[in-house]
Amino acid sequence: ASAAFKRNFASSAKAPRLLSGRTLAPTVNHNSSAGLKILAVLYKGGEAAKQEPRLLGSVENQLGIREWLESQGHEYIVTDDKEGPNSVFQKNLKDTDILITTPFHPGYLTRELIEKSPNLKLCVTAGVGSDHIDLNAAVERNIEVLEVTGSNVTSVAEHVVMSILLLVRNFVPAHEMIERGEWQVSEIAKNAYDLEGKVIGTLGAGRIGYRVLERLQPFSPKELLYYDYNALPEAAAKQVNARRVEDLKDFVSQCDIVTVNAPLHEGTRNLINADLLKHFKKGAWLVNTARGAICNAEDVAAALKSGQLNGYAGDVWNVQPAPKDHPWRQMKNKYGGGNGMVPHYSGTTLDAQARYAAGTKQILENYFKGKPQEPANIIVGRGKYETKSYGQR
Ligand code: NAI
Repeated sequence: ASAAFKRNFASSAKAPRLLSGRTLAPTVNHNSSAGLKILAVLYKGGEAAKQEPRLLGSVENQLGIREWLESQGHEYIVTDDKEGPNSVFQKNLKDTDILITTPFHPGYLTRELIEKSPNLKLCVTAGVGSDHIDLNAAVERNIEVLEVTGSNVTSVAEHVVMSILLLVRNFVPAHEMIERGEWQVSEIAKNAYDLEGKVIGTLGAGRIGYRVLERLQPFSPKELLYYDYNALPEAAAKQVNARRVEDLKDFVSQCDIVTVNAPLHEGTRNLINADLLKHFKKGAWLVNTARGAICNAEDVAAALKSGQLNGYAGDVWNVQPAPKDHPWRQMKNKYGGGNGMVPHYSGTTLDAQARYAAGTKQILENYFKGKPQEPANIIVGRGKYETKSYGQR
């Protein structure tokens, strides 16, 4: 197997090794690295951050890098206040050199904000998925965008498998019934199935999609399918027994369960809308832990109501935090179930946080020392996309 195969598709237990690759990209030292202003937008930890110091991705625990940054003479500003021109985020961007964000509480770096941030040279995503940054604008402005690739892909793949199971087995309404003090097996069983024998397809078969396929094999599905403009290496596809379907409508029409594992970009935004949902099998289950805006929120809620979908689950929302009246909070199928939505946390388990905090520090250290970055971490390099995952270019 090639090195790329091993890096991307080798058994998921090896995911953390993605952080210590061997071949390094020949980037140049273009930084003067003293006294930089570094701004991080993280989520508020509150009481939880006091109880659990391993919540490194919180405002309180600051990715564990404050002392290290300050000892090197850098200024480090950390906030969760990210909306509007008077937010700490937007006010500080003007003279920030390095911006650290997470997908869980995204500081949305629009083209307009990039234009107002003349010093900005590097954006680091503490996690995976940089769609909250206008990547085309970053390319034009020569701002590098790096992720901690691989840091939480196993965390998400596990969540996907859990979400598929809880929808197919009708778990949430069953648990709610127990909390209400009731006991009516038939009410749950009338919409509960086995995963065995179902056709399951992943839209996007990169690091997460592939790990989902790996984890589904032991459930003896009827078939595993994938849809991706980047074909899996033959050996990788064989290893998980997955068949590629090249047409999207054809792909969804064959699946009992669709899991979405592609980044959000212009080719995936609003991709799963009323038109595509018509081509799903009636009563299919849909799991989306990739990005909320890949699915049309109203169309998904309507499909669940009409029975075109039997269930929808995931942790990602088109706006985060999701407004209180977001349709995905309350939507239900005709039996009052079929909703497996949670806040965005699948990729921020304590295990994942340790990895993305360490990976963020490594990226910064490379930058300060003018050392080459791990190639797989570079989404946007100097003036160009380095990844093949954000659309065909
Ligand atoms: P990856 O880059 O390894 O794989 C993405 C795959 O999607 C690639 O094979 C790419 O070719 C494919 N793809 C892109 N556009 C497509 C399209 N239009 N149709 C079909 N396939 C397409 O990325 P990885 O690590 O698997 O992560 C995928 C996404 O998952 C991230 O970009 C992020 O948005 C999301 N994610 C969510 C997390 C969470 O906590 N919920 C945590 C980590 C990632």
